[in-house]
Amino acid sequence: MFTITKFIGHSRFIVKFVSLAVKVYPQVSISTFSIINARSMSQKSITSFFTITPKKPVKVQQKNKDEDETESPNDTTSPPDIGKEKRSSKRQRLDSSGSESSAPVEASPPASDKKKKPKRQRIESSGSETAPSPKSSPMKVEKSKGPPKTYNSPKSKKKVKEEASPLQKKEVNKQKSPPKTQVKVKKEATSPVAVKTEKEVKVEKSTSPESKNEIKDSEKKEGKENEEVTKVPETEYDPAKPKYHPINDACWSRGQEVPYLALAKTLEAIEATSARLKIVEILSNFFRSVIVLTPEDLLPCVYMCLNQLAPAYHSLELGIAETYLMKAVAQCTGRTLAQVKSAAQKCGDLGSAAEQARATQRTMFAPPPLKARKVFQALKEVANMTGQASVNKKIAKIQSLFTACRNCEAKYLIRSLEGKLRIGLAEQSVLQALALATATTPPDPDGVKVLDASKGLSAEQFKARLDEHALTIKTTYCECPNYDALIPVLLQHGVAALPQHCRLTPGVPLKPMLAHPTKGVHEVFNRFENEQFTCEWKYDGERAQIHVPAGEGGAAPDLAKASIFSRNQENNTSKYPDILRRLPGLLKDSVTSCVLDCEAVAYDVETKKILPFQILSTRKRKDASEADIKVQVCVFVFDLLYLNDRPLVREPLADRRRLLQEHFNEVEGEWQFATSKDCTTMEEVQQFLEEAVKGSCEGLMVKTLVGAHARYDIARRSHNWLKLKKDYLEGVGDTIDVVVIGGYRGRGKRTGVYGGFLLACYDHENEQYQALCKIGTGFSDEDLQTLSKELEQHVIEAPKNYYSYDRSHSPDAWFGAACVWEVRCADLSLSPAHRAAIGLVDSEKGISLRFPRFIRVRTDKTPEQATSAQQIAEMYLAQDQIKNNKSKPTNLDDFY
Ligand SMILES: *[C@@H]1O[C@H](CO)[C@@H](O)[C@H](O)[C@H]1NC(C)=O
Ligand SMILES: *[C@@H]1O[C@H](CO)[C@@H](O)[C@H](O)[C@H]1NC(C)=O
Ligand SMILES: *[C@@H]1O[C@H](CO)[C@@H](O)[C@H](O)[C@H]1NC(C)=O
Repeated sequence: MFTITKFIGHSRFIVKFVSLAVKVYPQVSISTFSIINARSMSQKSITSFFTITPKKPVKVQQKNKDEDETESPNDTTSPPDIGKEKRSSKRQRLDSSGSESSAPVEASPPASDKKKKPKRQRIESSGSETAPSPKSSPMKVEKSKGPPKTYNSPKSKKKVKEEASPLQKKEVNKQKSPPKTQVKVKKEATSPVAVKTEKEVKVEKSTSPESKNEIKDSEKKEGKENEEVTKVPETEYDPAKPKYHPINDACWSRGQEVPYLALAKTLEAIEATSARLKIVEILSNFFRSVIVLTPEDLLPCVYMCLNQLAPAYHSLELGIAETYLMKAVAQCTGRTLAQVKSAAQKCGDLGSAAEQARATQRTMFAPPPLKARKVFQALKEVANMTGQASVNKKIAKIQSLFTACRNCEAKYLIRSLEGKLRIGLAEQSVLQALALATATTPPDPDGVKVLDASKGLSAEQFKARLDEHALTIKTTYCECPNYDALIPVLLQHGVAALPQHCRLTPGVPLKPMLAHPTKGVHEVFNRFENEQFTCEWKYDGERAQIHVPAGEGGAAPDLAKASIFSRNQENNTSKYPDILRRLPGLLKDSVTSCVLDCEAVAYDVETKKILPFQILSTRKRKDASEADIKVQVCVFVFDLLYLNDRPLVREPLADRRRLLQEHFNEVEGEWQFATSKDCTTMEEVQQFLEEAVKGSCEGLMVKTLVGAHARYDIARRSHNWLKLKKDYLEGVGDTIDVVVIGGYRGRGKRTGVYGGFLLACYDHENEQYQALCKIGTGFSDEDLQTLSKELEQHVIEAPKNYYSYDRSHSPDAWFGAACVWEVRCADLSLSPAHRAAIGLVDSEKGISLRFPRFIRVRTDKTPEQATSAQQIAEMYLAQDQIKNNKSKPTNLDDFY
């Protein structure tokens, strides 16, 4: 509170100071401001600015009056007592449109209007929040003429940076947010007037108040045909605003292309937030504006939030080598490569370094502002350029984008190009945000009719509606993970029509069902108490989803078009020519099309034995030619998801399995059905598990056979599948997949490499990486060499704000979340020094692994797919249950 008061004092001082300067030395201040403009404003605004600034201070005052007058008629719909409030909040918008020009305008506010002061002060401070923006540095120069502590804004740049505690930020937000803005913005804004910039509107107002009044009057007569005159300036766009209004709080008008800055501002707001619900809300606010104003831009915006260019199976990916990006940034900003490199190292992120470099750069004739859809198109083009000769073309393209970047655009553009957005936004949150956006502001091909559908509904009613939307969207997305198909349907037909339009289709991989780890046979029985279930051997290979589409006419399968997808929906067709060639042996004549869920396992044809995963991983990853294949595979088929033009995902497993056995053949050493047994007693399960281990399997999969829980239904997050690993027999504990977030320098013979590491699990609820344990065993010297080298690429200057750890365990180096390792441990214990699953089992303590050992690198898992905090909690509890022989099942949700 102290700082705020102080700040108000200072800002008043500046206002007075500038006002005085304008009165006494009009020319001086004009020239100062034109320098500012030349640096950062677009050419258009510069021109308009010049038309306004040469006026005498008297004129400026006049302008304020005019503004008040012109706006009064607009307030007719509101009671008089809030009319003033409205006006001031409206002007506050205008004022903030670019702090460069607002200074002289604000120079002479009505002296009596005390209410306005704190508000404007907020605007100024939020202006500094958006720093480092082009405008911020010249402004600093300007303001430094005032008292030196002017920038002690409680919301100054530093606090909003990554390290800022989100809570703190929220606190500040609450304190300072103005009363709900009630600017009346009129519908439809396709006319040139609405398209004009803030400043031009101002100019109009100040130069011809009369004509403006006339317009207003005629507008009033025309009623609904009114136009928008006020838009939030792009640099002030705030999707985190409470009571966000999809039109009034947007920074573009209906029919206009979504500014890339609106998206960048959204990403920035998300990055500054760590609470998942708030992230979803911010993103949904942005989506709502897009749905109302420019629905055709929703698809590129969704893709760019996810940093995806196309469905995963198109393998169109960015990930431009950092050196090229540095080169491009250096060339654009007139720096050396070394300077850029060291700045990137200092920021811990090339994107932030690029933003800073861009901010201090002078651009006299700025290119037109970037639009989201054009940036997306350009990113696709860059990703699509291949071959040696493409490098220069790529750099040129990147430079043309980069020079047009304003504000925080540079940061996210560069990160997108790097292939990692790193804002802590999971796909589940994007889907949830889409659900929230469409539940609140339902899309309509003829134009959105309801801006806020939650009005008139009780909280429970709205939540029910939201849950329904979310389930439909997530289920559809799991069966058809393709936004190119999903988004247009969403906009055209609405959420309810999704399942009917976006169906599971051979050729488009679906998200696979994953299994939930369990800690022993007891737990299986606890969970599946009243269910009929089956146990299958869990093969240690690679997940393979085999798709065979129907041929022309649909009477026979088109084997030439068959494809194979990985667990992450990558197209791995070219990796397995041998499997594809053998398809005729698998399919009976009754099959015209199908999708099979399988595990491809390395296989010794001579001894007819399953080989370990390590052998399979030596196979070529793509474009394998059959003659060169040394590692033979046998495919173990365990599920049938689609047969003869009919999706089976909603059918119970018992039926799917029956159809599988009816329509497909086993071929020894090539195609086999997973060995299974429908167990009813614990002894049976235990014995079957031992058989599986003897048969070179990892353990068992346990699946419900009949009823609603037996569907292949990923989005419902139910615990349909469990896995029971052989470790239970050994009593050592399940293996755990962890993310490496820090390294400790080695000593003695480990000097020069990392000798120990800080590991984390992933908390889906809060989208955080939570420190789980330190690890230093299980590595060979060679492992440490390769792992250290690999991790060196991911070194970051400071821990991410979505890392949760205890300072007593701060590592020597922090890593961006990228590497996933499989580890094993003796057991799990509560620990005050670690954060994993904190709050789930104990409110103060996290869970830690005891005696962790490194097993292997999991290249097939992304950091978000690491063992979750929820799973860690369950493992801990399950272990407890076994110890204490309790029988109460834990009931935490798996993801997928
Ligand atoms: C990539 O380039 C090829 C030809 O060079 C073109 O046919 C294809 O449409 C491009 N794809 C994208 C996504 O731009
Ligand atoms: C699948 O294919 C992609 C693209 O060709 C490749 O990058 C990836 O490593 C492959 N995945 C596996 C598990 O082989
Ligand atoms: C997958 O790759 C194969 C060949 O590598 C190709 O024929 C097929 O069209 C691809 N499928 C998809 C969905 O991209």
